Amino acid sequence: MDLQDKVALVTGASGDIGSAIAKALAAEGCQVVVTYVGAAEAADATVDAISRAGGRAVKQQLDQRDPDAIEAAIDAVAQLHGRLDVLVNNAAWNIGIPFPQLEELTPEIWDRVLETNLRAPFLLARAASDLLKADGGGHIVNISSAGGISPGSSSIAYSSSKAGLNHLTRCLAVAMAPEVQVNCVAPGLVEETRMARRLPEQVAAGARAQAVLGKVGQAEDIAGQVLTFVRSTSISGQIMVVDGGMPGAMR
Ligand SMILES: NC(=O)c1ccc[n+]([C@@H]2O[C@H](COP(=O)([O-])OP(=O)(O)OC[C@H]3O[C@@H](n4cnc5c(N)ncnc54)[C@H](OP(=O)(O)O)[C@@H]3O)[C@@H](O)[C@H]2O)c1
Repeated sequence: MDLQDKVALVTGASGDIGSAIAKALAAEGCQVVVTYVGAAEAADATVDAISRAGGRAVKQQLDQRDPDAIEAAIDAVAQLHGRLDVLVNNAAWNIGIPFPQLEELTPEIWDRVLETNLRAPFLLARAASDLLKADGGGHIVNISSAGGISPGSSSIAYSSSKAGLNHLTRCLAVAMAPEVQVNCVAPGLVEETRMARRLPEQVAAGARAQAVLGKVGQAEDIAGQVLTFVRSTSISGQIMVVDGGMPGAMR
């Protein structure tokens, strides 16, 4: 897809990776809608950086645990831009709970993780389906995690939510074809991110130690893979791991 003058919605673009994705799409000519839940200043920083670079972006508050708010957010995009070409389901929430500490993973934490990381990407895709299918079709790129492929990450709930997001990618690729291509980037540890700082230290150290390339990914590497997917015209239902080459995620 030629991204010039297309419209992209990047959820969680107040965060580290979402911000990099929003900037990369804007640099290609997309008008970008940047969502955040509480960090309005961080969302402003993303919008300002895009504007300073000559791009176009607006911020929009969205608590994606709320199904009505998701419908309203997509309606707002339709009102403002009249189209949507790219949906990047990047927003997520995590908390560090070592896998063996089963009692600490309460139903409330489980629901918060699954509602944010798995249910919301489905509801966003559903709400955006008509817009994405119009005008020659569009793309969804989900951001999951290498922890959704092999068991290991901030918590069992997070790992399970990302495994679900990987399979949701394949299901939506079938459901929304042929108009919409649906793909997924599965990052390993991404250095200098808020989410990485919430990982139990032994998990982060293990990722660094196992990366066969001697380094893990950066936010810009994830953004680059998003661009590769949205430029393609023949890839759908695929999950690309970006992690520095981790044997456990080589499937
Ligand atoms: N960082 C890593 O090492 C790593 C590794 C593997 C996968 N990933 C994945 O990469 C993506 C981005 O991660 P990141 O490191 O950039 O995380 P981050 O900096 O913590 O950003 C998370 C984003 O999600 C938003 N968010 C959280 N709860 C939300 C809710 N209920 N409704 C709407 N938005 C909500 C946050 O908004 P506010 O800023 O307003 O709170 C923020 O914009 C996530 O899907 C994550 O699972 C990251």
